[in-house]
Amino acid sequence: LFTAVEMAPRDPILGLNEQYAADSNPLKVNLGVGVYFDDNGKLPLLECVQVAEKAMMATPTARGYLPIDGIAAYDAGVKNLVFGADSDVVKSGRVATVQAIGGTGGLKIGADFLKKISPNAKVLISDPSWENHRALFTNAGFTVETYPYFDQSVNGGLGGINFDGMLAALTAATEGTIVLLHACCHNPTGYDITPVQWDQVIQVVKDRNLTAFLDMAYQGFGYGITEDGAVIGKFVAAGLNIFVSTSFSKSFSLYGERVGALSVVGSSKEETDRVLSQLKIAIRTNYSNPPTHGGAIVAAVLGNPELRALWEKELGEMRVRIKAMRQKLVDGLKAAGVTKDMSFITTQIGMFSYSGLSKDQMVRLRSEFGVYGTDTGRMCVAAINSKNINHVCQAIAKVM
Ligand code: LMR
Repeated sequence: LFTAVEMAPRDPILGLNEQYAADSNPLKVNLGVGVYFDDNGKLPLLECVQVAEKAMMATPTARGYLPIDGIAAYDAGVKNLVFGADSDVVKSGRVATVQAIGGTGGLKIGADFLKKISPNAKVLISDPSWENHRALFTNAGFTVETYPYFDQSVNGGLGGINFDGMLAALTAATEGTIVLLHACCHNPTGYDITPVQWDQVIQVVKDRNLTAFLDMAYQGFGYGITEDGAVIGKFVAAGLNIFVSTSFSKSFSLYGERVGALSVVGSSKEETDRVLSQLKIAIRTNYSNPPTHGGAIVAAVLGNPELRALWEKELGEMRVRIKAMRQKLVDGLKAAGVTKDMSFITTQIGMFSYSGLSKDQMVRLRSEFGVYGTDTGRMCVAAINSKNINHVCQAIAKVM
């Protein structure tokens, strides 16, 4: 049965964790996966999460099956967070939100549903994009192509967004094409388009009748929860039927709980109810219904004003620390002898820096210094701290 089964390549991101775990270098640093660590190199357990969990433990409940679309209070919390509790679109019942197994689960449920309603549509992802986007939509049966996004030649060779190229590709896309967009904190580059550029993208999406699928895995890591989520309001204001996948892995530091969601905006409540019924079929046939614990924590925090404020404060602290590390990285690289202008690191936002380093340099960083980033040159700045930054800067300086 299995004689012809080929060995699959290691996952370009999570596969690095395995390699990192096996590395005996005492100075090793994992900048591969997008995970936030505090200044002591520890994965934080947020206080808002601890308070919510303690309250849950005080009144333990049995674990029955959840509804297919998840905890009602969780779905309502996500809707209010992503679209605003007072938004017309929420009040008029035009948002279908389902709890999903992480942001990836939200993407997968959306992809399966789209394959049913737009079987011949092409999917366009940014060049580059999160490594899993292509695989996920390809596995859902779509042909996946790219639109230009990052271009190393702009900004005098320091790299940046090729916005004209992006807009031209979207304008040339066939009607009905599904366009995967990063709502904020673009993964892997760390470069986001401006609000004015978003308006232009939205106009093209509208004119060309494209389907926008916004992946929002890093809300709160750019400029703040409201600021990072503002782009969703722009799409809604334009009257578009959009897909939004949400992840709380990073923003709640609940990676292993797999807490995410998919929201779909319909044109009327009646239409949205039909969409929801189809999303439930996609969930039921993938994993039946979602798990309880992580969703219950997030629902408790989002539904309680004090815990919600505590969450925003803790998320703000993560954001500020990453920004400080960006500046320290620029300064540290200079001090380590790097003559190239690396100040672009401070104009990138979110967890990642697209460093411009080649695959060979990234391989050397791993094998010679135990500094792990992806082959594409992406490094997770959120894992740099005041103790490992010197080693990281020395290592990068050596391979440059
Ligand atoms: C990343 O890009 O590193 C994260 O989103 C983790 C993952 O699942 O790839």
